[in-house]
Amino acid sequence: MGQRPATPRELAHVLRACRHLCVLTGAGMSAESGIPTFRAAQTGLWERYDPLELATPEAFARDPELVWRWYSWRRELVAAATPNPGHFALARLACLLPRLTLITQNVDGLHQKAGSRTVIEFHGNLFANRCSVEGRLVEDDVVIENGIPCCPRCGARLRPGVVWFGEAIPPAALAAAADAAADCDLFLSIGTSALVWPAAGLAESTRAAGARVAEINPAETGLSAACDFRLAGNSGEVLPELVNCLS
Ligand code: APR
Repeated sequence: MGQRPATPRELAHVLRACRHLCVLTGAGMSAESGIPTFRAAQTGLWERYDPLELATPEAFARDPELVWRWYSWRRELVAAATPNPGHFALARLACLLPRLTLITQNVDGLHQKAGSRTVIEFHGNLFANRCSVEGRLVEDDVVIENGIPCCPRCGARLRPGVVWFGEAIPPAALAAAADAAADCDLFLSIGTSALVWPAAGLAESTRAAGARVAEINPAETGLSAACDFRLAGNSGEVLPELVNCLS
């Protein structure tokens, strides 16, 4: 098949006949909300740290206070951010199609803030806390000891409720995403470098099932060569255009 540049109008034409659209979003989706993409340079205080070395179980075991300081900084940044026109357009798109499954690798909750109702959070949520021993999500008030929140039930350290490098995707999210990728008649990858597995493999399941794959991204990615449609551009501009063509 191979990569083919396409316009929002052409993709809208394909969507008119679409029974089930499966969308996967990545950090690029939130770039226009001012949240730096994970692989872009860290700024300010954190520029000398590599996120790949902070978002790991090993980093947390080594220096939990440092990891929590980094997550507190990210929580502040994300809490102040608002959805961009791309997030709103995707929420609207769900109302225009028979079925849309939205899978995100982002932990920022901006799809939900924009009105998307059902979101499969592949990598968890930045604002969730999880007990590092019991594994359960903790919503009750937490106790802070030496800068580290602790589990109100067992006293163990809490950790952010996100999936770190080297960790498994929550089984329910993985199963729901895999089912949607295999069932859909179009898979749309938006703002992701398509490098991190297993998210990067979802488009392959769609292709293996004989359905088509599209991408919205200003830069080429690991998926580009295998796409049926490639829309080069920012999601905050391309998605509203796509929705305009459809409505
Ligand atoms: N619109 C669309 N895409 C954009 C935009 C934009 N405005 N700006 C940047 N991009 C694209 C980049 O070209 C790049 O392909 O977004 C992508 C961001 O890639 P990554 O930083 O690698 O983010 P992502 O693919 O989401 O990473 C996957 O890996 O870092 C871990 O767990 C983290 O969820 C993350 C996962």
